[in-house]
Amino acid sequence: MKSVITGSGIALPPHVVTNDQLSRIMDTSDEWIRTRSGIEQRHFAVAGQGSAELGSMAGEAAIRDAGLKPEDIDVVVFATMTPDHVLPGNGPLLQKRIGLRQVPTFDLRQQCSGFLYGLDLADSLLRSGKFERVLLVGAETHSGFMPWDQGWKVVLGLSDEEPSDEEKAWNTLSRDRTVLFGDAAGAVVVEKRENGAAGLLRTRLYTDGGGAEALTMHGSSFKQRPFVTKEQIAAGETIPVMNGREVFKTAVTLMPQAVRDVCADEGLAVADLDLVLIHQANLRIIEGVQKQLGLPSEKVPHNIERYGNTTAATLPLLFHECKQNGLAGPGKLIAFTALGSGLHWGAALYRM
Ligand code: UT7
Repeated sequence: MKSVITGSGIALPPHVVTNDQLSRIMDTSDEWIRTRSGIEQRHFAVAGQGSAELGSMAGEAAIRDAGLKPEDIDVVVFATMTPDHVLPGNGPLLQKRIGLRQVPTFDLRQQCSGFLYGLDLADSLLRSGKFERVLLVGAETHSGFMPWDQGWKVVLGLSDEEPSDEEKAWNTLSRDRTVLFGDAAGAVVVEKRENGAAGLLRTRLYTDGGGAEALTMHGSSFKQRPFVTKEQIAAGETIPVMNGREVFKTAVTLMPQAVRDVCADEGLAVADLDLVLIHQANLRIIEGVQKQLGLPSEKVPHNIERYGNTTAATLPLLFHECKQNGLAGPGKLIAFTALGSGLHWGAALYRM
């Protein structure tokens, strides 16, 4: 038996925000963002549109692409680090929105590795014999943690009046993170197939809690009283913090190793891969992993320039685009890899 991706879909909020627009609301520049991260623009949702909605749109598209109806889905895995609510998770919200049967839904919290972990979980659910068709979703609305006020009106094109110097200074405090993220959703339907070469061949997942502080959010916690304080909001602690350099170095070491591991597990060489789909966090990381693996750039497509880092959505978004543009055609051997907050990382090997 193999777990086969039979459909995929994506959803992008319509507002496209360029680096130049961001440089109107904080001290940053197109040049800095482009050279440090490769990002040129990102999509932002408007207030009121959450990751459950984006994920549902992508999920519906994936179900249609698989030639199925909502009632055919018998389990959901929803990966996000920016859910609509702390509780309940996005799974039940998607179940209601799409009109699924009262099927079980799992909410995953593996951040940038959410889709990878979701693929492994989907495979396990199918292999258990309990389920036939999984809807796996990765969706984010990072715009919810952007601490801007008047700045929002400017980037959404609702006002030409730039923020005050005071607000610009405030927005600049979190510029090292806010310029990197965007909103998006991607989804796949994973089904059980008894015969054929296509399907998920191997996964390797890892966790190192020793790196938990490298990418985390301090400003809300059930271990403190109250859950979030005025002081934390005033200090900008409801925005994730990241030790960028440390995560960068770890990413360019551990992702190539995870890809080598899954290839070795299957008795394959890295050179046998047709495509490596890497979590889209930074173009320099993507190029670093490519170099480590000794692969030509044609085998390592990227779309971070158009979307920024969309956390759990990057891999299904890139996979869908590669299907659309023919790069991920029948028979192709694909490695997926990701690393992010946790630290969680890993790789998956998939035959189209
Ligand atoms: O998806 C989850 C996993 N995340 C990642 O994999 C991200 C990994 N890390 C990275 O991608 C990079 O480390 C960053 C893009 C976050 C940062 O790039 P960097 O080359 O490591 O820059 P840096 O943090 O060392 O900052 C260099 C300078 C600093 O100024 P000084 O201290 O040298 O004067 C920053 O204050 O750039 C400044 N800076 C900015 N300048 C203009 C930081 N953010 C900005 C900004 N605009 N937005």
